[in-house]
Amino acid sequence: MKDKSDNKIRATDITDEPVYLKRRHFLQLAGITTAGAAFAAIPGRSAADVKPLKTISSKYSTSQKPNSYKDIASYNNYYEFGLEKDDPARYAKSLITDPWSVKISGECDKPGNYNLEDILKPHPLEERIYRLRCVEAWSMVIPWVGFPLGDLLKRFQPNSKAKYVSFTTLNDPVQMPGVGRRVLAWPYHEGLTIAEAMNPLAIIAVGLYGKTLPNQNGAPLRLIVPWKYGFKSIKSIVEISFTRKRPQTSWALSAPREYGFYANVNPQVDHPRWSQARERLIGNGLFVAKQPTLVFNGYADQVAHLYSGLNLRKNF
Ligand code: MTE
Repeated sequence: MKDKSDNKIRATDITDEPVYLKRRHFLQLAGITTAGAAFAAIPGRSAADVKPLKTISSKYSTSQKPNSYKDIASYNNYYEFGLEKDDPARYAKSLITDPWSVKISGECDKPGNYNLEDILKPHPLEERIYRLRCVEAWSMVIPWVGFPLGDLLKRFQPNSKAKYVSFTTLNDPVQMPGVGRRVLAWPYHEGLTIAEAMNPLAIIAVGLYGKTLPNQNGAPLRLIVPWKYGFKSIKSIVEISFTRKRPQTSWALSAPREYGFYANVNPQVDHPRWSQARERLIGNGLFVAKQPTLVFNGYADQVAHLYSGLNLRKNF
């Protein structure tokens, strides 16, 4: 992964967040989901493209102040659309997200092709404010809209042979100019153990800031695993498969010394090329805030049991 320490977001680019949050609170009280003007100047999908979603709040949200919509939708990693942080916002307009379907395969009783509406219909949408800790040692706080991954997976009735879950992103060179370059093992694919996937912190996100996802953030649906480095949180998912064996993952295939299967946030295990002890919170313009990185990104109480007996240095 590129170690890009330059922050392309200027102080003047940042939305006046307290104003936005107050307005959101007012609209929630009035029973209206947020929309409109705050999103007007966002690159990528326009305000007209993202649609309002009705959400309920979640007990799992952090109380940290979210980054602005502009930070979240203009500083991205989505290598299918280029390697620079502003490439996805610029080029992901070409991604067609409607119609969309997800193939469910492998060790389960209800495999098949499900269209997006069928996938989403039974699930109430929550707002989950999580800090996304990227392996590149920066982080952002993002108000995702989504629902527990485990609730979705259970609907397909995984059988007793299902030990892992693998996820695959769309791989279309016409819509995704970046897949023409062999920077990663395409299609982008990721995996979790079944126990990780069933943990209530893991969600499928379909929106952020009360609206459907902009393409650059992984529309129409993506994974969010808040105790792991950001690269586990795969975007624009077209296949979910229940497997007996540990699935291969794009980053571990491309650079096995640098990126492992587990990818748990761990300040004690450095990346071979840089320290993971601290992180830079994106969105403070020139005044870059560095803060200590927390083990499991602060979720040790909820997830450390998943790794009992596992050497986290070897299994990075
Ligand atoms: N998913 C796909 N398909 N392609 C990618 O390049 N980048 C990952 C992850 N999911 C990536 C992806 C990385 S490295 C990070 S840090 C997060 O997405 C960034 O998510 P965001 O742009 O919504 O903040």
